[in-house]
Amino acid sequence: MRRSLVIGNWKMHGTRTSNRELITQIQTGLNEGQNCDVAVCVPFTAIPDASATVANSTLRLGAQNVANAEQGAYTGEVSVGMLSEYDCQYALVGHSERRQIYRETDELVAERYEYAIKGGITPVLCIGETDEEREQGKTFAVIDEQLSAVINHCGIDSLSKAVIAYEPVWAIGTGKTATPDQAQEVHAYIRNQIAAQNADIAEKLIILYGGSVKPENAAELFGRDDIDGGLIGGASLQADSFLAIINAA
Ligand code: PGA
Repeated sequence: MRRSLVIGNWKMHGTRTSNRELITQIQTGLNEGQNCDVAVCVPFTAIPDASATVANSTLRLGAQNVANAEQGAYTGEVSVGMLSEYDCQYALVGHSERRQIYRETDELVAERYEYAIKGGITPVLCIGETDEEREQGKTFAVIDEQLSAVINHCGIDSLSKAVIAYEPVWAIGTGKTATPDQAQEVHAYIRNQIAAQNADIAEKLIILYGGSVKPENAAELFGRDDIDGGLIGGASLQADSFLAIINAA
């Protein structure tokens, strides 16, 4: 039985004050017996405050990216060791905004994933097709490509230490959610592809759905067999809506 996971992705939002308030509200709103694990991936500069706030609570902390090297001349990057000092447990890798705006390739994403695992942080590997790719019937081909880049680089066993987030690019921040059927279809595909190489890893793997998850659609999405929770952008920026999504999991 997989335990659900809900992760907030705050992206580049907030101020020091507003982010402190938000994390405190989320933490206060979590009831002890929640049925799922919860984490927030905050901007790098919010990590020290957030780390102090979540210490000794069930709320976990994550980063929105991680360097593809341990240390050295990598201007603008933050290493897994630096994140571990603040007890970050997760790091997003390959978010579509990184792939599209910053031209991160499958190879670079695979390297980031590798360094997260080596450093003991769980990479949340984001994969998903664009609108155009879906129209052209290329959804599964894109998934295969993004997934195999990581498997070829780090091996299938690495997925026992990772989380996957299926995020159709056309659903991110657009208010256009994949239907539960559309999402389940791709989640099942991902799990089957992995099961073909290692059934045990596939069975235990947490696969999150991301893309305009809201309190109104969360329960239906999370109710599907292969959807183990969500990666939440916009709706994680308000404690009320994020907590409502957590309660749906
Ligand atoms: P959204 O973002 O929930 O605002 O669509 C999801 C994400 O980018 O992780």
